Amino acid sequence: MAAWGTHGMVSSEHRLASHAGVEILQRGGNAIDAAVATAFAVCVVNPASCGIGGGGFMLIYLAKPHRAVALDYRETAPAAASRDMFVRDGKAVPELSRRGGLAVAVPGEVAGLAAALRRYGTRSLASVLEPAIGYARDGFAVEDHLAAAIAQNVDALRATPELARTYLHADGSPVRAGELLQQPALAATLQRIADAGPAAFYRGAIAASIVRSIAAAGGVVSMADLAGYQPRWRQPLYGAHGTDTVITMPPPSSGGGVLLEILGILGRDDLTALGWNSPTYTHLLAEAMQHAFADRAEYYGDPDFVRVPLAQLLAPANTAALRSRISATRTLDPSAYGSQLATHHDAAVDHGTSHLSVMDSAGNAVACTTTINTAFGSMVVAADTGIVLNNEMDDFSAQAGVPNVYGLVGNEANAVAPHKRPLSSMTPIIVTHNGTAVLALGGSGGPWIISGTVEVLLNALDFGMDATAAVTAARVHDQWAPAVLAVEPGIAASTQQALARYGHLVKEVPAMGAIQVVRRQNGALDGAADPRKGGAAEGW
Ligand code: DON
Repeated sequence: MAAWGTHGMVSSEHRLASHAGVEILQRGGNAIDAAVATAFAVCVVNPASCGIGGGGFMLIYLAKPHRAVALDYRETAPAAASRDMFVRDGKAVPELSRRGGLAVAVPGEVAGLAAALRRYGTRSLASVLEPAIGYARDGFAVEDHLAAAIAQNVDALRATPELARTYLHADGSPVRAGELLQQPALAATLQRIADAGPAAFYRGAIAASIVRSIAAAGGVVSMADLAGYQPRWRQPLYGAHGTDTVITMPPPSSGGGVLLEILGILGRDDLTALGWNSPTYTHLLAEAMQHAFADRAEYYGDPDFVRVPLAQLLAPANTAALRSRISATRTLDPSAYGSQLATHHDAAVDHGTSHLSVMDSAGNAVACTTTINTAFGSMVVAADTGIVLNNEMDDFSAQAGVPNVYGLVGNEANAVAPHKRPLSSMTPIIVTHNGTAVLALGGSGGPWIISGTVEVLLNALDFGMDATAAVTAARVHDQWAPAVLAVEPGIAASTQQALARYGHLVKEVPAMGAIQVVRRQNGALDGAADPRKGGAAEGW
């Protein structure tokens, strides 16, 4: 799981995907080439978690000239989407935004990865797609994580003939760990993209199949939606953590802002003096999370539709005020959390998960998170293409205060609207020190991504852990609503008891999210993949 290197490092949720990236680095490609190759490969070898029917975020740090850029290739609501499309008889119907055609938002993965490569890569789309095409065509041995995802979803897979053909045996039994998985239709689709570029996905026969299959499953994505899809280059968010600079993803990610708000609230405390994962440290962390997640629910949405008041939320005066409202020994009533800004965000105006981390020998770094949302997305497959379509529409708030699949609530700021991007928790992060990228991280697991990246960042930077220790250590999570402090079993019983005495409703959760990290320290690269999801880092 731990990997070392001096030239380059890739950490992803699958060893074959990391290997694809390292091979590109060894042949002289840069971190962006490697990230794109790894991202396409992980779409093939981790098809429950991500795919070209999904979308994501990529954060890039260019060593020369010390500049960061953020690429948003989040899926987008179709033109025919509407505010109450998941509401029937006045009530949100969760199943509608989770399975079937209406759950599907216009995919951004292919356009996004191609755009990153075109602007900052050095290799052709065909060459970075080669490993992914190979894995899809020739097959690969299924690993534990995918085998578990197939087994858990076997009934839904059985109900969809195209998924059943790929992930189940002829007798309907699930493909198991160690067995060969081939995806010939997906290989052919990727080959067409390699030959003709991203337009092969967004126009023509593949697009027609996507639209037809979504319509047959009750959805409303059109050819015009696909042809009109555009990834967006955005200004990253910047924050300070001690003498380091934390660079992360702006909205429509909520992760970057929530992460910086948590770090801002904690910024005046001597965390090492509190003691790693001590009751006082864990309580303070949970309280900071609750403030920031309450603000997420109130203020965050697609910045093309709502003004997210980030400057106010992240202002030192605001984070200091939030810190002063935290009690050292009591958790508070849910209504006591959040910034309660005087200037409310504007109402919606009518216009308009797998993580990988890479560093190369030139000092470039990439943190990239990609998703189709829940396992196998909407369970809709574009006929004869092998493309599993996302269910990212569930990341919208179907109705004010009604929780989505991750228990997250939102309001008007994250309501459904045509061409709007649903709010995300994906949090790619690059930390720099004196202009050198020293940490690249991010993860999968919905809102656990935000708490997990905060904790791994603090483990590495404040508590001096190496990459493996930082990702392996037990984590806690508190997303404000529901009012539960989730802890992994590795959190000491005495700490759990102390937290309960502070008033937290403590609940053990076996494993929360998966964080992939690369660290640069003393000229060497230290990489680790989260053991919770069985990935691998590879360095050279
Ligand atoms: O964008 C988001 O916040 C979610 N669609 C992420 C989903 C996720 O991380 C699932 N993880 N395994």
